[in-house]
Amino acid sequence: MTVPDAAHPDTDPALGTGTRPDKHDAGTLGLLTQAVHAGNAIDAGSGAVRTPIIMANSYALPDDPSQISWSGTDVPLYTRNSGANQLGLQAKLAALERAEDAVVLGSGVAALHAVYFTFLRSGDHAIIADVSYEAPFKLFTELLTEKYGIEASFVDMSDLDAVRAGIRPNTKLVHIEAIANPTTKVTDVAAVAAIAHEAGALLSVDSTFTPPPLFRPIEHGADLVVHSLTKYINGHGDAMGGAVIGSRALIQRIKKEAMVDVGGVISPFNAWLIMRGSVTLPLRLRQHVASAERIAAFLAADPRVAYVSYPGLPSHPQHGLAASQFGGFGAMMAFAVRGDGDVQNRFVANLRVITSAVSLGHDESLIVHVGTEGARVAAYPAEFREWGHLRFSVGLEEADDLIADLRGALDATFGPL
Ligand SMILES: Cc1ncc(COP(=O)(O)O)c(C=O)c1O
Repeated sequence: MTVPDAAHPDTDPALGTGTRPDKHDAGTLGLLTQAVHAGNAIDAGSGAVRTPIIMANSYALPDDPSQISWSGTDVPLYTRNSGANQLGLQAKLAALERAEDAVVLGSGVAALHAVYFTFLRSGDHAIIADVSYEAPFKLFTELLTEKYGIEASFVDMSDLDAVRAGIRPNTKLVHIEAIANPTTKVTDVAAVAAIAHEAGALLSVDSTFTPPPLFRPIEHGADLVVHSLTKYINGHGDAMGGAVIGSRALIQRIKKEAMVDVGGVISPFNAWLIMRGSVTLPLRLRQHVASAERIAAFLAADPRVAYVSYPGLPSHPQHGLAASQFGGFGAMMAFAVRGDGDVQNRFVANLRVITSAVSLGHDESLIVHVGTEGARVAAYPAEFREWGHLRFSVGLEEADDLIADLRGALDATFGPL
């Protein structure tokens, strides 16, 4: 069925499925409105008010396609360049981060790789936060260094003198996590951006733990924001995706160099799922953060708990910075109970509501026991090296139920207080 555009004035044929430009003007609309409407469109074919899942690899060409750029990424052409679901999600993410443009890819790691692949070449140097997710660590200790001759230094980003001292004439990129996985170390993004820019380097910030409205790194001087969409932005634990968000010029380079010609694209189905999940992002974050604050305080007060690392606790080394930099402390924490690895495992096995699984930012609470071995652990704080840690993603269950679950597992492991 074809619905005439006159019946659907919001339809914009340039995007194939239509857009509602009045509904994603980032300058005038609030975040809740953006989360609902940005990037969504009335479907030109059916009149459906939500962009459907368009499971097509190719889009109809104009009568004379000979002038088309086959590496174009702005109009639907081929799903490795620009599928309709991908374009809608990109528009939404750019609106949420108040940036010019975004590129979505098949996973958060594909997004991280896209940044490094696009902006670094053989002989360049990158400064990487000494605590970060596994993939940057591996890429900059083994893969990019050994295969492509890219140099990297790992630097404690809470020590700005060390960041300054780490700059070399060939430093092209500084990469950090706003809140580091898994230690929850917080970086002063504006200060590190100033150091990077003075050296002529780009700053990329993995903000997976702090999606909008908690933080918008570009407003603090970052050039590129990376998200694992798999986490909070989708929020339902059922799809993988990644994004890089920034200026149009930088994102166009990523699209051309790392998307079209490397090809780690997202499937239309996953883009659609993430688009739907992201509608409730601001509402979900309110609950995640409120519960995490209560739970961190509960754990910190229990003598059977060895330590708790959460930016919202006054004991956190960068609590003041987190309070001034973020619009909320997030819902990721790390802690350990008093005991060796077997005791940590027994505690986790005694949980009834909280699930032992990797990933984070899902609707359900997730916990994972990480031991004291491994190359990355050397940069972790002393308590992480002594006790290991339980990385805990506080979900959307009732906070009272989560606290009761933690108390029950502590009682079952150690006996009641
Ligand atoms: C901070 C951070 N960045 C990136 C990633 C990678 O994302 P994905 O699993 O979607 O590839 C993760 C995954 O846990 C993460 O925690």
